[in-house]
Amino acid sequence: MYQKKEILTYFLVIIFRICSSTDTIGPNQSLKDGDILVSSGNAFALGFFSPGKSRNRYIGIWYNKVPEQTVVWVANRDNPINGTSGVLVIDPAGNLVLSNESRNLSVWSTNVSSITLQKSSSAQLMETGNFVLFQDQSRSVIAWQSFDYPTNTILPNMKVGWNRKTGLNKFFRSWKSHDDPGTGEYGYKLELNGTPQFFFYKGSDRLWRTGPWNGLRWSGVPEMDSNFMYNKSYVENDDEVTITDVMKDPSIFSRMVLNESGILELLTWQGPERGWARIWYAPNDQCDNYAHCGAYSNCDLFNLSEFECSCLPGFEPQLERQWYLREGSQGCKRKQEENVCGNGEGFIKVTNAKVPDTSIAYVNKNLGLTACQELCLKNCSCTAFASANISGGGNGCITWHGNLVDIRQFSNDGQDLYIRVSAAELGAKGETKSLFSSSTGLTSYDSRGKEMDGSGTNAEVSVFDVNTIVSATDDFSQSNKLGEGGFGAVYKGRLDSGQEIAVKRLSKISGQGNEEFKNEITLIARLQHKNLVRLLGCCSQQDEKMLVYEYLPNKGLDNFIFDKTRRSFIGWSKRFEIILGIARGMIYLHEDSRLRIIHRDLKASNILLDTSMNPKISDFGLARIFRVDQTEANTKRVVGT
Ligand SMILES: *[C@@H]1O[C@H](CO)[C@@H](O)[C@H](O)[C@H]1NC(C)=O
Ligand SMILES: *[C@@H]1O[C@H](CO)[C@@H](O)[C@H](O)[C@H]1NC(C)=O
Ligand SMILES: *[C@@H]1O[C@H](CO)[C@@H](O)[C@H](O)[C@H]1NC(C)=O
Ligand SMILES: *[C@@H]1O[C@H](CO)[C@@H](O)[C@H](O)[C@H]1NC(C)=O
Ligand SMILES: *[C@@H]1O[C@H](CO)[C@@H](O)[C@H](O)[C@H]1NC(C)=O
Ligand SMILES: *[C@@H]1O[C@H](CO)[C@@H](O)[C@H](O)[C@H]1NC(C)=O
Ligand SMILES: *[C@@H]1O[C@H](CO)[C@@H](O)[C@H](O)[C@H]1NC(C)=O
Ligand SMILES: *[C@@H]1O[C@H](CO)[C@@H](O)[C@H](O)[C@H]1NC(C)=O
Ligand SMILES: *[C@@H]1O[C@H](CO)[C@@H](O)[C@H](O)[C@H]1NC(C)=O
Ligand SMILES: *[C@@H]1O[C@H](CO)[C@@H](O)[C@H](O)[C@H]1NC(C)=O
Repeated sequence: MYQKKEILTYFLVIIFRICSSTDTIGPNQSLKDGDILVSSGNAFALGFFSPGKSRNRYIGIWYNKVPEQTVVWVANRDNPINGTSGVLVIDPAGNLVLSNESRNLSVWSTNVSSITLQKSSSAQLMETGNFVLFQDQSRSVIAWQSFDYPTNTILPNMKVGWNRKTGLNKFFRSWKSHDDPGTGEYGYKLELNGTPQFFFYKGSDRLWRTGPWNGLRWSGVPEMDSNFMYNKSYVENDDEVTITDVMKDPSIFSRMVLNESGILELLTWQGPERGWARIWYAPNDQCDNYAHCGAYSNCDLFNLSEFECSCLPGFEPQLERQWYLREGSQGCKRKQEENVCGNGEGFIKVTNAKVPDTSIAYVNKNLGLTACQELCLKNCSCTAFASANISGGGNGCITWHGNLVDIRQFSNDGQDLYIRVSAAELGAKGETKSLFSSSTGLTSYDSRGKEMDGSGTNAEVSVFDVNTIVSATDDFSQSNKLGEGGFGAVYKGRLDSGQEIAVKRLSKISGQGNEEFKNEITLIARLQHKNLVRLLGCCSQQDEKMLVYEYLPNKGLDNFIFDKTRRSFIGWSKRFEIILGIARGMIYLHEDSRLRIIHRDLKASNILLDTSMNPKISDFGLARIFRVDQTEANTKRVVGT
């Protein structure tokens, strides 16, 4: 029960109502429905409002100069007032109290213990949008402030995070709906486990995380570094873990809001015509979703391959089939045979990463990267390490002890992460046991260069000399001939390196010069997908034009389905997988690739099977090289199959 008696008597002696525009409620003053406080520079106003279609009354703070009412804070969010009888006063104890005039109980109160208050306290709406209750008239000691009890909005100059001394951890919560500012289901707050990071929640489920502060920015928000609109100051000491953003240009209004549809968005006011513009938001894509690819995996949306999840070096999918069907949430596991404890193991670097969840990480601020590696290597529970602070060339050490979760790949501005791998994995990657033994320092490994295709080669197309091809195919011997297709004959070959290839000797290409042909091949070779046959290169000399592909020993699908004995090798589930794979390859060619290829000759003999019977579409792009009709609109002639 709120101090009933005192309030009653207080109401009996009431007082001077706020009349002219002011930013302060003093002792013996009241703010009634219809009155407003306006901050000294006119940026913010405080008063009663009704959100959206609601007729409930709330005390709130909004932008005074923005025509569409934009509320940044609500006092009584879960306890609205019915009707216009609300009144905000400083009670005899010095607390701010909101109540319905005819009732004895307060609807909302700052609830500061009376010991810290004096009877002459006053409350002021600051130009930052902070509503501050000062302990006394000198206004030197803050007894309470709205910035400490935020609702769904983070404003510039607001310290966000954890006060270790008072135990206060600011917890932002979305509104229930556009019409109801009550405490909604989405939340945002700092977690201190391991090394601190902010989490965005739905209920208690993690939706997104910022990653740890890396000296320049949040590891998971590379687009918002210190060159952005704000001066950001991160403080981590025995008293607090907080971040404060200060606008470089204080005349710009910006606000970060947890909105009711579960998005954390950053908006700036662009003037009455253009309104609020969204500058940034999260979660923004699949890879932002917390642990989208499970443990020990990397999420990369900008990969041409159709699946954003890939296992970290030394790991393989936990559930092969789910993975194949593009369901990555079960993540990856260490390859069975690998022992990574005192067995010649080392580290492979993943560049441009959002580092894994640091709830299970430890930081040592005084170690450099080399010492960090030693520390991690010595401790078998350590699965990865990285620089704790990437500013000024990198210093400090984070080590992870347990599952590596929620890694993603950025196209730039991510950071280096070192994954513990077995000696065998190091050997496979051509890495040395110690990363630091080479003169250039760290050897580099980009997770994009690997997995799935297993060959480790990159997308560069090679131009083969005609003599190399002649020797590889034994001068196009009849015994090496694999078949004859619409655009020419195909031969098996073996390069000096031992690599097996398939060479397509093209019949005459109308009016295409050598350079034009090579350019075209370079474009097509960049199309890479696990359901496309990999084009390794070309050969173009005089009027000979050839394409060099990876060799697939199981040959065409026609070999299986049209053969009485062999058709029993592939059961229905395998057939289904093959169909899915072909469809994925087609989607890639039609919609996801840079060139948008229409195959125009898709048939069983053009579907090749690798050793695991995964389908790979071949001869894609030939319609393009042969200039068979340039656009869909022109296609009238029947071509291909
Ligand atoms: C507030 O009102 C009470 C009772 O009328 C009076 O005793 C007190 O001096 C007033 N306080 C101020 C700061 O005006
Ligand atoms: C609000 O007031 C209206 C009329 O004054 C009344 O009908 C309604 O029941 C009230 N609601 C609450 C929640 O008190
Ligand atoms: C105060 O609140 C009560 C209960 O919600 C309501 O019935 C009453 O009408 C309100 N008083 C005024 C003056 O509006
Ligand atoms: C308010 O308090 C007075 C005296 O304490 C009491 O008589 C009255 O019933 C109370 N009113 C309400 C609505 O609780
Ligand atoms: C006021 O604070 C005390 C302890 O600080 C707490 O027990 C009480 O529930 C609070 N009351 C309200 C109305 O928030
Ligand atoms: C932002 O930081 C820069 C460099 O530290 C400083 O010069 C500038 O005054 C700061 N701006 C504000 C608004 O604090
Ligand atoms: C929440 O933010 C997203 C992204 O900015 C936007 O598309 C959506 O309309 C917003 N929802 C609400 C209720 O404002
Ligand atoms: C490995 O590191 C963890 C976390 O720092 C620590 O708890 C554990 O004692 C270490 N183990 C050894 C053998 O040093
Ligand atoms: C990060 O390193 C830079 C330069 O080495 C230093 O100035 C800064 O204080 C460090 N930041 C933290 C949070 O340790
Ligand atoms: C995309 O990922 C796959 C599998 O991880 C990899 O083989 C391929 O090289 C990557 N491509 C690019 C362009 O990063």
